[in-house]
Amino acid sequence: MNHYPHIFAPGKIGSVEVRNRTVMSAMGTNMSDHGFVNDAIINHYVERAKGGVGLIIIEVTCVDTPLGLNTVNMLVADDDKYIPGLAKLAAAIHAQGAKCFLQISHTGRGARRKNIGAQPVGPSAVAMPFSYMMGFGNEEPRALTIEEIRTIEDKYAAAAVRAQKAGFDGVELHACGYYMGQQFLSSTANIRTDEYGGNPENRSRFYTNIIGKIREACGTDFGLVVKQAVMEAGEQGGITMEEGMFYANKFLTAGADGIEVMGGSWKPVPDIDDIPSTADKPGRMLGLSAVVRKAVLSMPGEKKNPVFIGGGRTYLPSLAEEALAEGKCDFIFMGHGLLAEPHLVEYMEQDRCGEARPCIGCNLCADDQLSYNRHIRCSCNAVLGNGENDYTMEPAAVIKKVLVVGGGIAGMEAARTAARRGHKVTLVEQNDHLGGQLDYAVAPPYKDNLKQLYPYYEKQLEQRRGRPAEYNGR
Ligand SMILES: Cc1cc2nc3c(=O)[nH]c(=O)nc-3n(C[C@H](O)[C@H](O)[C@H](O)COP(=O)(O)O)c2cc1C
Repeated sequence: MNHYPHIFAPGKIGSVEVRNRTVMSAMGTNMSDHGFVNDAIINHYVERAKGGVGLIIIEVTCVDTPLGLNTVNMLVADDDKYIPGLAKLAAAIHAQGAKCFLQISHTGRGARRKNIGAQPVGPSAVAMPFSYMMGFGNEEPRALTIEEIRTIEDKYAAAAVRAQKAGFDGVELHACGYYMGQQFLSSTANIRTDEYGGNPENRSRFYTNIIGKIREACGTDFGLVVKQAVMEAGEQGGITMEEGMFYANKFLTAGADGIEVMGGSWKPVPDIDDIPSTADKPGRMLGLSAVVRKAVLSMPGEKKNPVFIGGGRTYLPSLAEEALAEGKCDFIFMGHGLLAEPHLVEYMEQDRCGEARPCIGCNLCADDQLSYNRHIRCSCNAVLGNGENDYTMEPAAVIKKVLVVGGGIAGMEAARTAARRGHKVTLVEQNDHLGGQLDYAVAPPYKDNLKQLYPYYEKQLEQRRGRPAEYNGR
């Protein structure tokens, strides 16, 4: 039975048919081999494609090394030598029935000298005010010349052509966070007085030019979405809602098929409400998508069936279903949730989300990469970043009786794992409830998302009581 007819209805982004309305947002893994696709990356995405997601937007990929690099092991598409690896990745995802776009980007002033070996570049010589990678030590970038900007535009188009040659269904232009796409749009980072700055029309020129160049090179039978911060919130000023909608309309009339609606500024943390991600509310950006979609659809200019991809911790199928049914968005994006639980969409479809490993919003996944240049990791999913489906769980060679003393998170995970391998497990806990030190972890304010671990582990343990072991590696 289809519990969620809107989520599991096929949809189209431009000419690209997608099996359902779920989109895995681009999420850097810092797992490549100096820009090349490797097995770890393929396994990571294949597992999510197997888990039912409709469209996978492959992580931020550099169009111009070294200046455009974000992390040392980010993916790269600035040379044809990267095409074979990208082709292997696209084919592996397609084999599981999902579609894939490549997110193409330049880091601009967000790049760090230690990674790029030179002074970063940006629309203007304005340093990023603060970041948790650099604190207040961000370097002032060198302002690009007009010729350099046009060269970078060409590099975006060349990267899109490589993605198309590799078999990708489309590309996504990155225009949010602390990357160059957003820098051009924001009056806080772009103080140019030439044709690329000074007013919203000029600030949008970098991406409208790129959209035009991609359409010219790749044609219309190729997906093209812009992931856009439609507003920068907070004391630092920057993109207003009005400007954000103007930009979205510009991009769609220039030939983009859709907008993935985000908010926030150069701070690589969610700052639209400045609530820590351990307490981010489900559906936190759906309201933004609803407002932008309604406004932009009624703005002048020819747009061909544009789609709006909305979300923000939208992992409850009831919430996603309602958002789609009410026209808040046409597709739902999902980030963190698919790192913690690659099969989240399958669980949604089967209405079994209580069994899906929750994301607690600790942000280890992003922090570790950006602060320490490590590959992606997750505090709840030990497999993430460790080879995914190569990391299989073998049945125990000898079945033993296992006693686990203590029903904290470690004890419960150990009990769950031992049971999955076929051991006969007894778990003892001195308190009248499971959780252990989780009780202290959830006590401070803004820790609500950690609380999801209680029902998750209770269910995991309950399900394995007296049941035969499962060896599915999950
Ligand atoms: C580890 C990690 C890496 C990310 N990398 C990217 C990226 O490469 N490009 C991008 O546009 N957004 C990136 N994001 C943001 C996500 O795509 C997504 O917009 C955000 O997490 C909100 O969705 P969610 O609330 O479902 O997590 C990243 C997020 C995480 C957690």
